[in-house]
Amino acid sequence: MSDGDRPRAAVLAEAAQAAGYAPSVHNTQPWRWRAAGEALDLFAVRERQLDVADPEGRLLAISCGTAVQHARVALAAEGWTVAVARMPDPADRDHLARITLTGRTAVTPEAMRHFQTMRLRHTDRRPVSDTPVRPEAIAAIREAVTASGIDLHVLTGDQILELAAAASHADKVETEDPEQREELAYWVGGDRPEGTGVPDAVIPSQAPQTTVPGRDFVRAGTLTVGSGHDRAAAYAIMYGPGDELADWLLAGEALSAGWLAATELGVTVLPFSSVIEIPGTRHTLRGMLSDLGYPYLVLRLGTADPDHPGPPHTPRLRADQTIDVIAG
Ligand SMILES: Cc1cc2nc3c(=O)[nH]c(=O)nc-3n(C[C@H](O)[C@H](O)[C@H](O)COP(=O)(O)O)c2cc1C
Repeated sequence: MSDGDRPRAAVLAEAAQAAGYAPSVHNTQPWRWRAAGEALDLFAVRERQLDVADPEGRLLAISCGTAVQHARVALAAEGWTVAVARMPDPADRDHLARITLTGRTAVTPEAMRHFQTMRLRHTDRRPVSDTPVRPEAIAAIREAVTASGIDLHVLTGDQILELAAAASHADKVETEDPEQREELAYWVGGDRPEGTGVPDAVIPSQAPQTTVPGRDFVRAGTLTVGSGHDRAAAYAIMYGPGDELADWLLAGEALSAGWLAATELGVTVLPFSSVIEIPGTRHTLRGMLSDLGYPYLVLRLGTADPDHPGPPHTPRLRADQTIDVIAG
């Protein structure tokens, strides 16, 4: 049996399983897949939405978008062409996407490389080294992002200082709010055996000496941080023309494509979302964009600190917790 003859539901379920490597806010993995016939459907799981930090579901949808792009990468690596419909059912806002198999194509080395990179990509919260990210690398990451109709605005030095003030304000607002702290504590810390959340092993053991403060997880983790800084890091705002569910989904697809490209170029990525969660700082970011569009996420791009090993991979839910396969 050639690959093209394999049962479609099995092909789609495998792609959904590979999409489990996708990044999500606080590793919530707020998605559920249904593989049936020629189609793979993605649904938002509202029980894993951050009700306090993300009441509109912006970060949930961005997270689901990363899973859509991961599934597409997995299918391309198996030689499938696909069509993607976003928000395919106007009556069901939780039905975020439908990926349909449309035919067979040759597997390119690029598709295979992206597939392998999905397992390597991770979030690195350590400071970055003093080696700046090459302009060609930033251009290549931006190209990967713009393929989804989203763009990256790379911040100037003055704007980085403005971002630093916004990030510390957003963290202060969140850490002083008991409801925010309770929600954070649910998703963060410990060794997370249940397959979700951010374990201590990927949280810095002390706050890195960076201009822009990383998210305050309100606990020290066990990740060793060196003496690096973020002087050589680039900061960019991901933005686009709309601020609705379908836009956020596309932003997630763009984030995933850009992050895989960055990983292949040896560039570490750290998302900053507290500045998006707080309406006031989201407004500040909008101002930095000079009304070019709506901000979705801030990314720190850097060259990894070479003095210490990178953080381990975070846990994931089991396939049977996120995928339904409908036979027939
Ligand atoms: C939409 C989104 C927002 C995120 N926001 C932050 C953040 O503010 N701070 C942070 O340290 N990590 C952030 N992350 C990284 C996640 O915590 C990370 O992807 C998740 O824990 C899974 O770990 P991994 O990326 O190493 O696989 C974000 C990721 C996504 C997709």
